[in-house]
Amino acid sequence: MLTHIQSVHTRSTDFFTQNGRYPSAFIQTFGCQMNDRESEKLHGLLTAMGYTEAHGEDDADLVLYNTCCVREAAENRVYGRLGRLKKLKTEQPGKVIVFCGCMPQLDDVMEEVRKHHRHIDIIFGTFNKHRFPRLLHEHLSGGLPVVEIFEAFREDDAEEIAMYDSQVSRFAPHRAGVTVMHGCDNYCSYCIVPYVRGREVSRAPSDVIAEVRGLVADGAREVLLLGQNVNSYEFGFADLLREVSEVEDLRRIRFMTSHPKDLSEDLLRAYRECGKLCKHIHLPMQSGSDRILSAMNRGYTRSAYLDLIGRLREAVPDIAVTTDIIVGFPGETEADFDDTLSAVRLAGFSGAYTFKYSRREGTPAAELAGGVSKEVIAARFSRLQETLEPMLLDYNTRHMGHVVEVMAENASSGRTDDNVLVHFESDAAPGDILPVKIEHCKSFYITGRLALS
Ligand code: SAH
Ligand code: SF4
Ligand code: F3S
Repeated sequence: MLTHIQSVHTRSTDFFTQNGRYPSAFIQTFGCQMNDRESEKLHGLLTAMGYTEAHGEDDADLVLYNTCCVREAAENRVYGRLGRLKKLKTEQPGKVIVFCGCMPQLDDVMEEVRKHHRHIDIIFGTFNKHRFPRLLHEHLSGGLPVVEIFEAFREDDAEEIAMYDSQVSRFAPHRAGVTVMHGCDNYCSYCIVPYVRGREVSRAPSDVIAEVRGLVADGAREVLLLGQNVNSYEFGFADLLREVSEVEDLRRIRFMTSHPKDLSEDLLRAYRECGKLCKHIHLPMQSGSDRILSAMNRGYTRSAYLDLIGRLREAVPDIAVTTDIIVGFPGETEADFDDTLSAVRLAGFSGAYTFKYSRREGTPAAELAGGVSKEVIAARFSRLQETLEPMLLDYNTRHMGHVVEVMAENASSGRTDDNVLVHFESDAAPGDILPVKIEHCKSFYITGRLALS
């Protein structure tokens, strides 16, 4: 792999000799934090290959889209952007277009690409992102399109994976995502992720710790441990948290996502033991109806979910709970939806990501009858927002008048330990921890002024 990085770098140096500047790259990331972190690694590799930062598609010598297919809307955004690149590619044929990540793992996407997006130069999936230097080298040497899609990780790639994982290039200097496991074995009936990310594979704790140390040495003060279901981490997630919290100079630890069916007593203990672990958990509920939860193959009931929140609050008083909810799963009746609203009221969430159900070809739910109409989904979606907003305001209002510890994202905003967005004025640098006295509370943020410590 080093040889591929070196040979692309040599080309970049030649490019400099001819053009008086190094080639530039523009990365656009779609989807989840896992993709965000992977884009950082791809960015790190590009930097190692002599590429500089471009401001957008227009002025970039290389455009990379790291894609998501979890909902149709995500895919359509990518298709829209790809379509617009067509003209640019005709005007600037030397521009290298890279399409990678979750979308290319799907056959119907590749068919669409072969039909309508022949201007793409390099395509790879989720199991070979670390092979990007190799693929770029191949394209630059031959000038032909390169497509490489695997169905699983390959053992032979260990060296390239280690190089890729060690990239520290970060888009947010104080905060870093660290993938602890790849893939998902849960097969929720609506979800495409298991088909594009493959079976669950946990990274060795020593690899995770090494990556965390590298990121902290590079200035990160908060890490977000990532996996589709961190609670099924093979080597014990609570133990991993204990180990990560030993890393010096690291101030905060968060993780996502936690599947309610696998949350252990040991995790509750870890919350009590590890001071760096933020008082926040992202615990997707998806629905409050037992019938729908079962059709979704979520593996828990409404009451088990609500009990779990009760146990979390016993172990960690005041813990903030955020969630994901899907509206309009096939067969969802008014009664089912009312169950979701009532569960939302009982749960007392501090934040929620709400989604309209999106049919994903190839998932079991795509075969279900009882599709809910667009209009009904839209109406339920607004009722859900109306139920959530006062609840979020209620949660945020707890901070009123208190001095809270904020980790600055920049000089005027940051987050509390319980993940509430705070606005203030200061001359803080990203990662600084500041005391802020809260004076105003809204549903989606709170504001305050610096308190004297
Ligand atoms: N592994 C995580 C979620 C990953 S996807 C978990 O289990 O919680 C993030 C969220 O997208 C999911 O929680 C779900 O709410 C939503 N989602 C996934 N597939 C969807 C679909 N087909 N339609 C609408 N929302 C979906
Ligand atoms: Fe999708 Fe369910 Fe896996 Fe989450 S746990 S990624 S929702 S299959
Ligand atoms: Fe999307 Fe892939 Fe993440 S489908 S949500 S980018 S794992």
